[in-house]
Amino acid sequence: MINKKSVEDIDVKSKRVLVRCDFNVPLDKETGEITSDKRIVESLKTINYLIENGAKVILCSHIGKTGKNISLDKVAKRLEELLSRKVIFLKDIYSSETQKVIDNLKEGEVVLLENTRMTEKEEANDMEFAKKLASFAEVFVNDAFGSAHRAHASTEGVTHFLPSVCGFLIEKEIEALDKGINDPKRPLVAVIGGAKVSSKISVLTNLLDKVDTMIIGGAMTYTFIKAQGGKIGKSLCEDDKLDVAADILKKALDKGVRFLLPVDNVIAQEMSEDAKTRICAVDEIPDDYMGLDIGPKSIELFKGEIEMAGTVVWNGPVGVFEYEKFANGTKEIALAMANSKAVTIIGGGDSAAAVEKFGLEDKMYHVSTGGGASLEFMEGKKLPGIEALQDK
Ligand code: 3PG
Repeated sequence: MINKKSVEDIDVKSKRVLVRCDFNVPLDKETGEITSDKRIVESLKTINYLIENGAKVILCSHIGKTGKNISLDKVAKRLEELLSRKVIFLKDIYSSETQKVIDNLKEGEVVLLENTRMTEKEEANDMEFAKKLASFAEVFVNDAFGSAHRAHASTEGVTHFLPSVCGFLIEKEIEALDKGINDPKRPLVAVIGGAKVSSKISVLTNLLDKVDTMIIGGAMTYTFIKAQGGKIGKSLCEDDKLDVAADILKKALDKGVRFLLPVDNVIAQEMSEDAKTRICAVDEIPDDYMGLDIGPKSIELFKGEIEMAGTVVWNGPVGVFEYEKFANGTKEIALAMANSKAVTIIGGGDSAAAVEKFGLEDKMYHVSTGGGASLEFMEGKKLPGIEALQDK
């Protein structure tokens, strides 16, 4: 349960409300067009609530990395379509014109400020910049779940200058992730994939205290297999994390968690669409081959676990799903989750992208809009963008 005040706990009528959204949407590398508007769609509930309740709505967000100077202009256009109303796009937050527009805003009107990462002050959580953003409004609503793990000027800094509450998306995300991990319908099965053990140590360790079954996929499999003495060929492996992997295996045993590694895998000599693939046992990979996806026996094993689960939490693809040749395992996991009666929670990032690619989003209980944020939540960390909000 989230113990923070929400937009419904405050009076917004006639007030200028600064809303931090996560409009960091993926853009096509060539055309610059938005390739998934999920994050914009998910922000609509809060924005519409504010419009309907007579607020003057001032939206802000980052997009891309600092220094890339990507404009939010495409987002403004898409938002306008989705809201079916004008969104005034303000390119320069320091200009007198911007100030004039904000001073003259009427109830229900919506403006969007340009990418907060046009300046380095955003990530530096610079208080002068935060104060400038805050000066536009009387209330702050944070609805940027995807950025809640960042203590930046527009997520954390502004809360020092304005009464600050959360929006509906943050509420929904925390409730779903919290239910999945801290109050699950059992058995609780976690599927953790991804390339590196090192980036998943905290999440694996935290989840070992909570889950009944832990399923491992992705390239980090091979660090575990090597730690157990298996032959992994030229598969990706973190040799300096073999002891960490062995320690995680021991912890799982001590805690009575079923820890399932793939038993077979799809191997190839190179990672490419033209590569010739073979199936082999996960611990018998020839020297000149690498593992790139889970194999058919592993799929059956994992599907069986997902079928019997009360809750399934998934973070990280189990193969290199960007390549058709190595996407089958990830697709089968997504399908098994979509078809299961379990509470299914997708922890953002690459696994959310996979679910979207396979068109299975609507079949899941919850697909998080946050990559890093949902991972940090699963690691048991506090998210600064949420911590800074007013308690109930
Ligand atoms: C995300 O895409 O995970 C969030 O928008 C945060 O972006 P960042 O990793 O660039 O801070």
